[in-house]
Amino acid sequence: MNDEVRPFRIALLGVGRIGVMHARLLVQHPLVKELVLADVSAERAAQAAAELGCEHAPIEQVLDAANPLGLEGLVIATSTSTHADLLVRAAEIGLPTYCEKPIAMTLDDAVRAQRALEAAGLPHHIGFHRRFDTGYTRAKALVESGELGEVRRIHAVTADPFPPADEFVPTSGGIFVDCNAHDFDILRWVLGREIVEVYSTGAARGRAIFAESNDFSDAVTLVTFDDGTVGSVQASRYNGQGYDVRLDVMGTDGAANVGLDNKAPLRSVEDGVAYPPEDAWFDFIERFRPCYERELDHFLRNPMIGQPGACTAADAVQALRIALACNRSRDEHRPVRVDEIA
Ligand SMILES: NC(=O)c1ccc[n+]([C@@H]2O[C@H](COP(=O)([O-])OP(=O)(O)OC[C@H]3O[C@@H](n4cnc5c(N)ncnc54)[C@H](O)[C@@H]3O)[C@@H](O)[C@H]2O)c1
Repeated sequence: MNDEVRPFRIALLGVGRIGVMHARLLVQHPLVKELVLADVSAERAAQAAAELGCEHAPIEQVLDAANPLGLEGLVIATSTSTHADLLVRAAEIGLPTYCEKPIAMTLDDAVRAQRALEAAGLPHHIGFHRRFDTGYTRAKALVESGELGEVRRIHAVTADPFPPADEFVPTSGGIFVDCNAHDFDILRWVLGREIVEVYSTGAARGRAIFAESNDFSDAVTLVTFDDGTVGSVQASRYNGQGYDVRLDVMGTDGAANVGLDNKAPLRSVEDGVAYPPEDAWFDFIERFRPCYERELDHFLRNPMIGQPGACTAADAVQALRIALACNRSRDEHRPVRVDEIA
């Protein structure tokens, strides 16, 4: 295991929407000596490598237990259904790993990956990037300091301005696993409490792929925490005003908001209020790019030298469990206790 921060030789698997962004950030990072890209589409990996001036290699070489490429760390940005097997493989090879969220599509796969990582003692981080956002970090500090008093209610929103490609929808795990998993992780982190019950509803509107995939385009979940705090969590694939990610935390002594910034995709219709002053956030990359940068930097400075990541497999399994409880609530039209998902 490495024990010093120095430039590393890293491989990145999956050169799609987010993989390309991570690759761009990694090639510019002073702690990345060499970057090797791999994808099931060898052509896509070769093209991205040519654009970024880095290496590319077949997936089999990246995942070869003999480590013929001399890799020191791994970034997984492949489709969600592949994460668990790749994490298990990373544990077998012994490569410190950053893996995109969600950890898996099913609880069995997620727990299998968690157990493999823990048994190998493999340093890892799962990509819930909001933990590196300044707004969420300040909200957490306000909750922890007691300045908001006793937190009683929350409201969280994650809404994309336009839906992903049709091919992505059936592979995404659905809106709760793919989209609201971010909210469930950050709510656990900001409040330091566990969600114990969810009650979800929604609608499949717009493109037919949502109904065909037993998915929602727009969804609302009522959540209850272990201390009785209640809240609502929304998601949409069709938020025309822009990319909307917000959190309201309301306590007995005060309230805090994340996301009501100069680019919030809301338009005030009140007299004398001209808000917001700037164009709305376009997408997750524009809104959260600094968080992805900080998150990769965290990976390079911590898991890469044997330290634990800020978001562990155990955290990611819990976020998935909550999202799967939402799926059950959707299917059975009833409130579902999170511990039913076992
Ligand atoms: N943290 C975030 O904000 C965020 C944002 C977007 C996507 N994601 C996550 O990142 C992952 C990828 O999403 P995306 O939107 O980039 O998807 P995408 O479909 O654009 O890209 C996935 C890439 O992985 C490749 N791939 C699939 N299986 C592979 C395998 N076994 N080995 C190597 N390459 C493989 C595909 O060919 C494709 O190029 C998903 O799990 C998604 O949930 C996270």
